Amino acid sequence: MYVYINDGIVPASDAKISVFDHGFLYGDGVYETMRAYDGVVFMIEEHIKRLFRSASMIRLDIARDAGSVRTAIYRTLSANSLKSAYMRLTVSRGYGPVGLDPELCKKPTFIIIAEEFREYPETYYENGIRVIIAETRRNLTTAINPQIKSLNFLNNILAKVEAKEKGAYEAFMLNASGHLTEGTISNLFFVKDDILCTPSVECGILDGITRAIVIDLAARNGITVREGRFTQDELYRASEVFITNTTAEVMSACRVDNVDFMIGDVSGLLLKEYRKEVDAYVKEKRGESPSLRE
Ligand code: PDD
Repeated sequence: MYVYINDGIVPASDAKISVFDHGFLYGDGVYETMRAYDGVVFMIEEHIKRLFRSASMIRLDIARDAGSVRTAIYRTLSANSLKSAYMRLTVSRGYGPVGLDPELCKKPTFIIIAEEFREYPETYYENGIRVIIAETRRNLTTAINPQIKSLNFLNNILAKVEAKEKGAYEAFMLNASGHLTEGTISNLFFVKDDILCTPSVECGILDGITRAIVIDLAARNGITVREGRFTQDELYRASEVFITNTTAEVMSACRVDNVDFMIGDVSGLLLKEYRKEVDAYVKEKRGESPSLRE
């Protein structure tokens, strides 16, 4: 396995960062998770755009442009001879003396990891996953805005710990005013009275790239979509519940707390349509992907 670190690719065993890296010391940095299908990184431009948005929201200068980030992502994929991959791009503030001041760090640390994509167990899609509504509340937009895809992940980890303790896979978090937000690594959707509902960005969520595609696909398939403020009681009364993210695509929940759900028609349709969208994208971009032959 090879890792892209700063300006080059090295064997994973040589990919090391300083113990003074502020990403390690303070969770000061940002990241993106991407998925490659058949050698094509799905929605790469959107991920790069969001990476720059997250970086700008924490005043982090990535010190390279979108084109060179794109090249680095594809170089990492080719170096590992991967077609189907999980990819994680991390940019931290870099190393510097201890202290919170970002100016202590002169150069960001830039890392890309690519691993063979490990498919989720088929049962997750066939039977659905178990979810809880966590006691842990989602970060306030005025504290750590969830739109920043940051390395500071303890909020989500605490909710994940709750889920694990209750035998669930994912946890939905409420915001400070008691409205639904999102999962620990996913956005949430539910169907109620034939309307597809999902918490709006103002509730305090990461505006997922998969979420945007699913909203668009739903509209194109004649499904009414409502982005807004929803309570957990509304979700309990839904006919279907599902999550979305880059790696899981569209995955249904069979249970939220003590309420059971069917794998419904809407989630089934949207998963199918999402996969069609991926196939079309891959077909279109296959010829364009830069490779090591640059
Ligand atoms: N997580 N909300 C949170 C808190 C997330 O961490 C993610 C993604 C999403 C969905 O975003 P997208 O559709 O752009 O993947 C929503 C990734 C998969 C991760 O942390 O690895």
